[in-house]
Amino acid sequence: MSNSPVTVTLDGEVAVITVDNPPVNTLSAAARAGLFAAIADIRARSEVAAVVMICKGSTFFSGADISEFSGPPKEGEFRDLFRELEQLPVPVVAGMHGVVMGGGLEISLACHYRVALPGTRFGLPEVTLGIIPGAGGTQRMPRLIGVEKTLDLILAARPVDVATGIQLGFIDAEIDGDVREATVAFARALLRDRAGVRRTSERSVDPATAAPEIIARLTAQAKSQYPNRTAALTAIDAVSAAARLPLEEGLLYETELANRTKLTVEAKALIHVFFAERNTRKIPGLSFDGATRKIASGGVIGAGTMGGGIAICFANAGLPVTVLDSTREALDRGLAAMAKTYDSMVKRGRLTTAEKAKRLALIRGTLNYSDLATADVLIEAVFENLDLKQTIFKELDAVAKPDAVLATNTSTLDINAIAAVTRRPSDVIGLHFFSPANVMPLLEVVRTDSTAPAVIGAALDLSKALKKTPVLARVCYGFIGNRMMEGYAREAQRMVLEGATPREVDGALEAWGMAMGILAVFDMAGIDVGVNVHRANAERYPPDPSYYQADIALHAAGRLGQKNGRGYYKYLPGDRTRHDDPEAIDILKATALRLNIPQSAHAAGEIVERCVYPLINEGMRILEEGVAARASDVDVVWCAGYGFPRYRGGPLFHADNIGLKTVYDAILKYRDRFGSMHWQPAPLLARLVSEGRTLGEWQAERNLR
Ligand SMILES: NC(=O)c1ccc[n+]([C@@H]2O[C@H](COP(=O)([O-])OP(=O)(O)OC[C@H]3O[C@@H](n4cnc5c(N)ncnc54)[C@H](O)[C@@H]3O)[C@@H](O)[C@H]2O)c1
Repeated sequence: MSNSPVTVTLDGEVAVITVDNPPVNTLSAAARAGLFAAIADIRARSEVAAVVMICKGSTFFSGADISEFSGPPKEGEFRDLFRELEQLPVPVVAGMHGVVMGGGLEISLACHYRVALPGTRFGLPEVTLGIIPGAGGTQRMPRLIGVEKTLDLILAARPVDVATGIQLGFIDAEIDGDVREATVAFARALLRDRAGVRRTSERSVDPATAAPEIIARLTAQAKSQYPNRTAALTAIDAVSAAARLPLEEGLLYETELANRTKLTVEAKALIHVFFAERNTRKIPGLSFDGATRKIASGGVIGAGTMGGGIAICFANAGLPVTVLDSTREALDRGLAAMAKTYDSMVKRGRLTTAEKAKRLALIRGTLNYSDLATADVLIEAVFENLDLKQTIFKELDAVAKPDAVLATNTSTLDINAIAAVTRRPSDVIGLHFFSPANVMPLLEVVRTDSTAPAVIGAALDLSKALKKTPVLARVCYGFIGNRMMEGYAREAQRMVLEGATPREVDGALEAWGMAMGILAVFDMAGIDVGVNVHRANAERYPPDPSYYQADIALHAAGRLGQKNGRGYYKYLPGDRTRHDDPEAIDILKATALRLNIPQSAHAAGEIVERCVYPLINEGMRILEEGVAARASDVDVVWCAGYGFPRYRGGPLFHADNIGLKTVYDAILKYRDRFGSMHWQPAPLLARLVSEGRTLGEWQAERNLR
């Protein structure tokens, strides 16, 4: 067992199984093999009176090894392993710490007693990956805490703390100090009290916890919490079976259901996004050789909406940050807004007053560029104007220390042109945060034609420190996300001019799974913001008289969105609830009449197709041009930054799922109806369809090259 992550040592009459399977002690094949051997070893020792199972490192078993999901099912092996553990003839105690999720929690349920250090968290988050607990969790947990509470835990898919675990009844005690010593002491106390074995499998489920009205409530909850999805409903099926089946039969039923969930599009899509997010920092063909630059402090230029949010990200990560603005007034306004953000976190119980003070102390305001001289990264977030940004980059070039990373948060401007005004264009990069910057997880990292690999590496490292999901892009108008947004937004605006109501458009998109309908997004972001971008870039736009005219008409009527209570919808003061507004609809109708736009009815299916297919089409252009390195990166941008349903896997995963030919045919259908100005299949789409290949196949082939 020398190379095994599992060892057995004797502490008097207590056998201690120690698992050391870094980084997070997954229940990998090696860990399972080691555990089988450990159990056999313990069975052979007659002197053992109790068994303790603990893990080294940052956590007890964190869960199953997700990379095994694509291989043959492992449920049978888990069943056998956990049965052998549970059948040991002496008390078995799991001593836990860290974050104990999924399979990690399930193995503890096969132990006879469970204790944990303060701060340990437990959860069964499988439904967030479109699957169900498949290592006995659906059968053992209800034997400890009942069907209803088990399902509450599974549907919430959020970890709970030790006190909650004790209160629910699956944790016996909180222990203190060293996990090994404390768990051994707990085992000795059991021996002293002659507590004996206590197998979960020998307990029965309280049938009252599976009453029909409880199941009905949970089913309704699952449907509303996980619309268009099935894993949560399957979990209800599995857990309620525990109330009527003996353990072994229940476990087989769980396996059958778990394997069924793995075959669903929902699971494949969610697991795709999970890995896609994990892989965004690994850039094909780009090696940093450890030559990234260390970022331990930052400077932000512009204390507005974005600059303030970015500064908060630094402070939240414990990094000192200096914020510069051009006037005392703008700076003070920005600093006050940051303090207000922290106040509201304190009010909502998300932060202590002491922690707030600590973070605010990391943010320093200044009006002098010389105060930026020591920062490792400088992020410019002033108004969206090329001349202004170039002026600022000249200043930054003059004061920044050698090797500082010079970044811009521009959404639309040519970063090559910004880099060109400096004497160090290879140090310049785009860091495109999303609003609100301290909340949104996505960060587009935009390399110019000359950005040095070490600077890209530094940006990717920084994103980790700031807890962002980075996606590397190349310079183009709108980068990945906003460039794909163009067709999506264009069609939504066009459809309200064709007579669809804002609610019909947003309703169809939301029912399909978008987190928020696009017109409601415009209202939230400010219709003036979109109109200003449109005006500044008018020369780029196609000669379509209806192009973005819904926004422009509402804006002309003084409707700015939520900020003045009137946009595509009407809002009451201090309330974000959308109300239909006949006045907005009249404005849209009058605009359509003026522009001679034919009126038609819009089924939900058409709304979704017309919004989502342009996304896919542009995504394929972006991919072929190399603006995004991989299809999965495009999927991450839309899932992490634009509320695309993760359970559909992102636009490009979705395209493969429904079939590229379906997308292609629909684009031709709309081309026949609306002309080719907007509806033209991307070359890559046309090619793959003619070759009968999927995007996944195309990508796999590219990865090999
Ligand atoms: N708001 C968004 O949703 C969003 C999202 C992503 C990127 N961006 C980009 O971020 C940048 C900033 O946008 P914002 O929404 O935060 O704008 P904002 O108007 O809220 O803030 C801009 C700040 O820059 C300051 N400023 C102007 N000129 C300056 C100068 N010469 N020196 C120093 N400071 C100066 C202003 O006083 C103001 O505080 C823009 O490039 C924008 O395109 C915005």
